[in-house]
Amino acid sequence: MGMEQKTHFVVDKSKCIKCGKCLNTCSGMVLGFGPDGYPRMKEFERFGWRGCWRCQHCLAVCPVGAISIFDKKPENSLPKPPAKMGEYMDSLITCRRSCRRFLDRNVDKKIVTSMLSAMEAAPTGGNAQSVEYTVIDDKDRLHEIWRVAYSKMDAAARRHVYTHSFSDFYYGKMKESEKTVRKDDLLFCGAPHLFIAHERCVGKWAEDSKANCNIATAYFELLCNAHGLGTTIMSYSAEVLNELAPEARAMLNIPKDHYMGLIVGFGYPEIEYARGVQKDRRAKIHRYSDGR
Ligand SMILES: Cc1cc2nc3c(=O)[nH]c(=O)nc-3n(C[C@H](O)[C@H](O)[C@H](O)COP(=O)(O)O)c2cc1C
Repeated sequence: MGMEQKTHFVVDKSKCIKCGKCLNTCSGMVLGFGPDGYPRMKEFERFGWRGCWRCQHCLAVCPVGAISIFDKKPENSLPKPPAKMGEYMDSLITCRRSCRRFLDRNVDKKIVTSMLSAMEAAPTGGNAQSVEYTVIDDKDRLHEIWRVAYSKMDAAARRHVYTHSFSDFYYGKMKESEKTVRKDDLLFCGAPHLFIAHERCVGKWAEDSKANCNIATAYFELLCNAHGLGTTIMSYSAEVLNELAPEARAMLNIPKDHYMGLIVGFGYPEIEYARGVQKDRRAKIHRYSDGR
């Protein structure tokens, strides 16, 4: 009976209506009806593919809030999002824009805490939840890292040494952008804060690990925009930390064997956008339907 105890799978029989939804959403297929007709957890060998995925779908799907698992109680879960969420998301995705000029002040800690709490629920392959988030939400702390990284990048550029995707031409353009769009900082676009998703990336699940990081990056970027913050997703700054300024990366305590492909700079925007853009990408959408 060991594993059942470890999951603390509990059915409140005074509420359960025996609808079977928990069984039918159980990713690990470890739930079944017991002889009394109520759901129960079967014996299993291990967590993951050989057992409970820790996805909590049983708790989340139960229409009457009868199931607790891992000591998580349904009354402590957030309710379903409002019906208008689809429209909100359409608007958010259409109207969010990259921001490369930020106000030089820290974001309210409560907002950052609330976003990071939501980020705990971001999806990961096999619900492995192994992606880690490094967040610098103090602008002075970030400035220390920026100083090291920027000086290494600058010194390399003087020798015409760049990250793998850069060259004299691209670096020259970026340098020029410091006068306008990037506000004195081609490296982090003057963002007061950074969010970095990273994960140990080895073996046959290495591609999943990279995808976990990229999905987390996209989720966090959208969350920031939903909270009225500005963001830039930056591959260039990740390249600088990975290739030219390992000292700066070490200051962030990101292990050497972790993949780190993108960095999100975030903060209060200096410039607010008044409307969405109209990217015309219909030709890139391959939709198979009856054409009506
Ligand atoms: C994978 C990826 C890498 C990016 N790297 C950078 C970068 O290094 N520096 C930068 O200023 N913007 C970077 N961006 C932001 C894009 O330039 C930006 O999304 C694009 O120009 C479209 O603008 P929009 O986000 O306002 O629609 C990156 C975006 C993505 C998705």
